[in-house]
Amino acid sequence: MLAEEFDLTVNREDTPRSAGQLRTLLRQHDALGVTVTDRIDASVLLVEDCRTKLIANFGVGFNHIDLDAARRAGISVTNTPGVLTDCTADLAMTLMLMAARRAGEGERQLRAGAWAGWRPTHLLGTRVSGKILGIVGAGRIGIATARRAHHGFGMSILLHSRSAVDPGIVQELAAQTTGLDELLQRSDFVSLHTPSSAETHHLIDADSLALMSSDSILINTSRGDVVDEAALIAALERGSIAAAGLDVYEHEPAVPQALLSCENVVALPHLGSATRETRVAMGMRAVANLRSFFAGGSPADLLTEN
Ligand code: 8YV
Repeated sequence: MLAEEFDLTVNREDTPRSAGQLRTLLRQHDALGVTVTDRIDASVLLVEDCRTKLIANFGVGFNHIDLDAARRAGISVTNTPGVLTDCTADLAMTLMLMAARRAGEGERQLRAGAWAGWRPTHLLGTRVSGKILGIVGAGRIGIATARRAHHGFGMSILLHSRSAVDPGIVQELAAQTTGLDELLQRSDFVSLHTPSSAETHHLIDADSLALMSSDSILINTSRGDVVDEAALIAALERGSIAAAGLDVYEHEPAVPQALLSCENVVALPHLGSATRETRVAMGMRAVANLRSFFAGGSPADLLTEN
C-alpha cells in the first residue's frame, strides 16, 4: 500500500537498524516507520541534515524513542494505540494461567519423555477463580486484562493507577483502587500494564517484591525495565514469590540464564501483539498516520507535534 503512494525503502529482513543506519535513513527519508527494536535516542535524532519530519512507530509503547529530542529535531512521532489492546490482554491471561497451572513445566516434562503418568499430586498448581488480581497501570490494556479476569474467571480486581480511573469501570469490575504497596500486599496475582518511563523504571524492585506474598505470581506484558530483573530472580530463587509470567525483559533479546533456570518462570519472547490480525491493524494504523501527516492533516495518534 505504501509503495503505491510513496518512494519506499523496505527492511525486508525485519532486523533492527544500527544507530549509523538510522542516521542515514533520517537523512534520506521524509518519514521513518520503526519498531520497538530501533533505538531512536538523541544521538540518532540530532543528526545533521535530517530530512525526516515524521516517525511512525509500529507499536503503542514508545520508550525506545526520545520524544524530547524528536521535538527538538522538529520531528513528529505517532504510535498505534488501541489495536493491540485485546491481544496483549489475552497474552497477560495466557501467562497468568500458564504460571498458575504450571503449564510450561508440564509441557517441558512431557516433551522430555519424563511424564510417568497421572498421579494425585502431580504438578499441583493454584486456581485463579476467586483470587485477587492487582492491576498496575489502569490504561486500555490493564482494564482489558481486568475485564477478562473478572468477568471470565471470577477474579476480584485491585487497580493502581497514577491517573484517576473512570468510576463506571471501577463499578463494572467491582474493583477497588489502592496504593501500590497495598496492592502488592493483597494480590494473589500482580499484572503490570504501565508504560516504561523514568518514573516507572524498576517500579517493581526488591522492596516491592518483598511486599508480595510467597504464594503470589507476577505477570509482566508491559516493558522489561519496569521490573528490576536481578531482584526478581532473587525473589524467585528464594521463593519469596511463587512464580512469574514474563513476555518482556530488561535487555531484550537477552534473557538472564538465571531466569530461564527457574522452573517457576513462564517466559515468552515479546509476543503481546503477535497475532496476524493485530499486526495488520497496527500496520494500517501506521499507514493512516503517514497518510494524514503528508496530506497536511494532524495524524490521529500524534505523540509530539512540531
Ligand atoms: C509491539 C509492543 O509488537 O506495541 C508495543 O508497545 O510492545 C509490541 O506489542 C512492538 O512495540 C512493535 O514495535
